[in-house]
Amino acid sequence: VFAGVFGRHASAYRSRLAAAAARGEVRGRARLVELLGLRAGSRVLDLGCGPGVLSGPLRAAVGPGGLVLGVDLAPGMLALASTGSGSSFARMDIERLGLAGDSFDGVACGHALHFCPDLGRALAEARRVLRPGGRFAASVPGPGPAVVDAASRLLDEVVSARVPANAAERPPDLAGTLAVLAERDRMLSALGAAGLREASVELVEERSTYSTPDDLVEHRLGWWSCAWRLEALATTEREALREEAVRTLRARLGGGPVVVPGASWVLSGTR
Ligand SMILES: C[S@@+](CC[C@H](N)C(=O)[O-])C[C@H]1O[C@@H](n2cnc3c(N)ncnc32)[C@H](O)[C@@H]1O
Repeated sequence: VFAGVFGRHASAYRSRLAAAAARGEVRGRARLVELLGLRAGSRVLDLGCGPGVLSGPLRAAVGPGGLVLGVDLAPGMLALASTGSGSSFARMDIERLGLAGDSFDGVACGHALHFCPDLGRALAEARRVLRPGGRFAASVPGPGPAVVDAASRLLDEVVSARVPANAAERPPDLAGTLAVLAERDRMLSALGAAGLREASVELVEERSTYSTPDDLVEHRLGWWSCAWRLEALATTEREALREEAVRTLRARLGGGPVVVPGASWVLSGTR
């Protein structure tokens, strides 16, 4: 399900994330790159690389003599990632990496662990492919997936009123993974159980800014969680929903810029 949805909406995802990165709003991902401690010539694996937004900073950290390999399950994401990046990309499941052990100096993962039904297996795979002393660092949404900001909640209300919950294919059960990724102690235990030493979990505050409610609606409807549900609607229905969402948000938030607070957890450990 995730590979399909992300693949079909890869372009909207990339433009949203690239704009947020340009505004310095993806602080969690920036912190994870720092925590990897990469050097010129390092070999780094980018798990769930998506459209390759992290691959740029990773590439810059390892220089021309280094290696960046991005892996993802969504062909649409990999197609975007491989356009002119200088990194390598392959279709692979984070939970079943087709890679030899002891191969990488660093393993990065930007906002993808929370899509893994078996988090323990994903972490164990990350450790397996690291060389001894290599570093793992990952960002995931924080402080907890259940916490949504007011603007997202409003949009969710509008989408839910139009699209029945069972209208689209069901994603895999992520309850176990999300429960671990909601609590610092459980994240630390999961890192330890996977054999990662010097485990740490930091909360990095972030915020997203939108020039108007219309701008917010445009971006959020293309975001995977909305886009997935909206696929059940005809184009005219989708357009009607977009207009309704804009009207609702303008009525409640006014017509000016919208600032959406948020945060990312950043997990790290050493093999
Ligand atoms: C929210 S995006 C994150 C993309 C990028 N790393 C970033 O920092 O924004 C999550 C990505 O994880 C990928 N993904 C989800 N489950 C996966 C799995 N089991 N194996 C590989 N990729 C997966 C999705 O296809 C998607 O591209």
